[in-house]
Amino acid sequence: FNRAIETVEFLRLKLPLHLSKPRVAIVCGSGLGGLADTVNRGEGDVVETWEYKDVPNFPVSTVAGHEGKLIFGTMGAERVPVVLLKGRAHFYEGHAMETVTFATRVCKLLDVQTMILTNAAGGLNQEYSVGDVVCLNDHLNLAGLVGFHPLRGPNEEDFGVRFPPLSDAYDLSLRKLAHKSWKELRDQTPNQRRMHEGVYAFVAGPTYETRAECRMLRNLGADVVGMSTVPEIIVARHSGMRVLAFSLVTNISVLDPTVRADNPEVLNMTGEELEQYMSRGRANHEEVLEAGRLAAVDMQGLVLRIVSQL
Ligand code: 6GU
Repeated sequence: FNRAIETVEFLRLKLPLHLSKPRVAIVCGSGLGGLADTVNRGEGDVVETWEYKDVPNFPVSTVAGHEGKLIFGTMGAERVPVVLLKGRAHFYEGHAMETVTFATRVCKLLDVQTMILTNAAGGLNQEYSVGDVVCLNDHLNLAGLVGFHPLRGPNEEDFGVRFPPLSDAYDLSLRKLAHKSWKELRDQTPNQRRMHEGVYAFVAGPTYETRAECRMLRNLGADVVGMSTVPEIIVARHSGMRVLAFSLVTNISVLDPTVRADNPEVLNMTGEELEQYMSRGRANHEEVLEAGRLAAVDMQGLVLRIVSQL
């Protein structure tokens, strides 16, 4: 708590008054840093930017595609004061859960009311396509269920209660606004990208899932799987912030269990056919970033439209 106060005091020293209490915080996931381009940069618009490394107590991300910038500005014609977090700290980098969620605490102390979180995720739901957007309506905190939980330890009463409920973590009216905004944008510029609503499974990483793990997660009720967002959502809800979260589907998992050497079809395949067959649905970081680049513009439009109506 005191470290977060120290960070907020540092930031507020340099922020003009109208930016010192951002209403909305936006966390940009893998390849979605383009969201930072949606802040107003016209005449008379002030934008304050810090590298994470220059902000006291802020964790520095080590992942390619995660820049590590804190950006204060306004968004939309309504000039809504916002803070953008370009890049985040992940659990798989070796950070403690408190470190992963430190920026979320800072947002609360900045008086942020609403957090919009984005991430790149693997699609488990076979109805989804690469490039689709999933508005999250629930999660499976798999790492949390086995003890890696951001609220483990003495409760910070200044933020929230010891046993917070999470049954309504994903704000229904914000989700309604998201669907409405998506439809309006689609009607303006039709494209193939769809928006779904689904359940996000949080895994620790850094490996992508095996095929058996993908089948397990799907059987548990997950629609997408990823390595972020859930710790931040829990900490945000603990302290009463409203939450809206989107996954960009960067690859679709193959749930088919018949990738077996004793399958007659497989036995008859030659080297190249085998390689092709095996690589279906294989996740890789470059593919994740590329899907992000292609979808970033649509995500930017969506977030801008939502923020303007908050
Ligand atoms: Cl397939 N899995 C996980 N855990 N995270 C991802 C992903 C897959 N694709 C993008 N991020």
